[in-house]
Amino acid sequence: MASASYDARRGELTTYFDRTAVEAWSRLTSDAPVSRIRATVRAGRDAMRATLLSWLPADMTGLRLLDAGCGTGALSVEAAHRGAEVVAIDVSPTLIGLAQERLPAIAGAGRIDFRVGDMLDPGLGRFDHVVAMDSLIHYRAADIARALAALGARTDGSVLFTVAPRTALLTVMHAAGKFFPRSDRSPAIVPVTEGGLRRRMTSETALDAFTWARSHRINSGFYLSNAVALTRARPSASAGSGAASPGVRT
Ligand SMILES: C[S@@+](CC[C@H](N)C(=O)[O-])C[C@H]1O[C@@H](n2cnc3c(N)ncnc32)[C@H](O)[C@@H]1O
Repeated sequence: MASASYDARRGELTTYFDRTAVEAWSRLTSDAPVSRIRATVRAGRDAMRATLLSWLPADMTGLRLLDAGCGTGALSVEAAHRGAEVVAIDVSPTLIGLAQERLPAIAGAGRIDFRVGDMLDPGLGRFDHVVAMDSLIHYRAADIARALAALGARTDGSVLFTVAPRTALLTVMHAAGKFFPRSDRSPAIVPVTEGGLRRRMTSETALDAFTWARSHRINSGFYLSNAVALTRARPSASAGSGAASPGVRT
């Protein structure tokens, strides 16, 4: 169950990613030239996406993947190229529109169902894998743990996510300050320690069935983020019972 702080933060992020920073995100996630600082962020994000994708099966035919907070959809496209049935959800209708505009032809069985809404919506159904790349980094540790529990409860394979490491707080603050001009600065990134997050996660019973399988840090100039893979060690009681709700197929 999401908290008031989760809801409030999601509201701020909706305003930010749907209005304030649309132009900057559109550019950052394209091939258009960017400043030297943003080029390090782009390179870091490319490396992060490659890391997360390397933790997913090479052949995803028939597998359901949730791209939680998909932004302009780059990871969704890669997963669909591997044959995955992707649900790509974001709170920003503008970024979803951009993702749909940019969508290349997907050969084979893969497809992407774009949605506007909350990644925790249970109506999205069950998944084999969930990826939340840089979409939980603005939430408090307690809210990240609760979100992971909600996502984990409907995931049969792995939940891959990123967090901003607190060990390098200054770097993160520096990056957050420099990444965008003052006028379109993002809601603060909330750095977390691995120990602190793991402690929060132990109070989420839905996560008892998951193992913290691996983590990997990407540090590229002004981009700093830790990737974490949670893998299901015990089958879910409700596995196989949750059908996906119908949606727009793109
Ligand atoms: C930093 S961007 C990353 C986008 C994408 N995952 C990527 O790596 O390119 C974070 C995204 O998460 C989305 N987001 C944040 N909270 C969300 C939530 N509760 N449900 C769905 N999307 C959310 C934002 O709108 C934004 O597009």
